[in-house]
Amino acid sequence: MTQLRYLTAGESHGKALVGILEGVPAGLGITAEELHVELRRRKLGHGRGARQKMEDDACEILSGVRHGRTLGSPIALLIPNRDWRNWSEIMQSEPFEGDARRKLEVPRPGHADYVGGQKYRHTDMRNVLERASARETAIRVALAAVARKLLRELGIQIGSRVIRIGEVIDTAATGDLNKLNERADATAVRCVDAQAAGAMVQAIEAAKKAGDTLGGVFEVYAWGLPLGLGSHVHWDRRIEGLIAQAFMSLNAIKGVEIGLGFGAAGTPGSRAHDELFPGVEAGTVAAKTNRSGGIDGGITTGQPLVIRAAMKPIATLMSALHSVRLSTGEPADAHVERSDVCAVPAAAVIGESLLALVLAQAVLDKFGGDSMEELLPRFEEWSRAAPAVTSTPDR
Ligand SMILES: Cc1cc2nc3c(=O)[nH]c(=O)nc-3n(C[C@H](O)[C@H](O)[C@H](O)COP(=O)(O)O)c2cc1C
Repeated sequence: MTQLRYLTAGESHGKALVGILEGVPAGLGITAEELHVELRRRKLGHGRGARQKMEDDACEILSGVRHGRTLGSPIALLIPNRDWRNWSEIMQSEPFEGDARRKLEVPRPGHADYVGGQKYRHTDMRNVLERASARETAIRVALAAVARKLLRELGIQIGSRVIRIGEVIDTAATGDLNKLNERADATAVRCVDAQAAGAMVQAIEAAKKAGDTLGGVFEVYAWGLPLGLGSHVHWDRRIEGLIAQAFMSLNAIKGVEIGLGFGAAGTPGSRAHDELFPGVEAGTVAAKTNRSGGIDGGITTGQPLVIRAAMKPIATLMSALHSVRLSTGEPADAHVERSDVCAVPAAAVIGESLLALVLAQAVLDKFGGDSMEELLPRFEEWSRAAPAVTSTPDR
């Protein structure tokens, strides 16, 4: 059993989102404000809909933390729906007959509406939409803020950037990873190049005017990692498998790459791998490249993790897509729900969060510990015993 596990619950327009994170060692310093920092970052990015302005995503810590430190008991978090008074009848749990408000009868292509409705035998596909919505990721981001804090205590950091929106690509070098989030958070679409950011904003505006939507690609990095997270010994312990699963669990993600990714397929072997050289310190090993994206054989090398994910365009279009009114079988315009035009910048922040949860799980799998006091020395001792592959030049 993994030491760290979590569950979320909540509908998009329900009373609240809730999450439980179990297995966090005792003694980790955490405050609600640290959760809010990440929740605010999740709302960044030009192209978001009206809902983002309305939600202030106040997150309450219900349990597992006392006087600013984790207790080792399950951490329960709650994000109330600020708009609940407008939904309290429509979404109430008590029996309520004859209310057709907000009923969804024409499925939106590209959403779970039709298949979820058929699978769960719902005639009102709002019963699907409400949970399929990416609103759920707000509580995952909040839970992951705890995982991030744990990683940070060990010197592990996570950042991201948008590299593509629609046809516009940001080709600027990523540069110093320690400054990545600061740079990306400062542009309107969380890419790093100001000119590319301008072109991306224009592309989003043009799509909006046309009643259309845009997808894109984002890149997530983790650095300061030890060698040895994950394992080659069994399929479900390979860290890239766990990372890919986490990224594919994010709404609208259709592809995940690690390191060279799909590019490796067309690269000769002489230029696709990371040759090893003697490191600066005796007994250590260094690589001049990081084509593997920080993972070999299911195990972290200690070089930065480099993960890219492709997000499909938002599937709710103001110029509605063709669909079918299921009650009559007649052609109809797909249901239009208040919606984002582009959410790639937010998806990048959520990607950081999902990576934090996977890495915190892997760290606790390897080092265990009921308290931070127990975990920290184990982690440090291991890092000395099995030094990471460094990117420093040879001796
Ligand atoms: C941060 C984020 C925000 C999103 N916002 C919207 C939105 O406003 N409207 C919409 O139709 N889809 C939105 N989506 C995408 C849908 O959640 C997604 O396309 C849908 O769940 C079906 O995706 P799937 O086929 O990958 O499950 C968003 C996705 C993410 C990650």
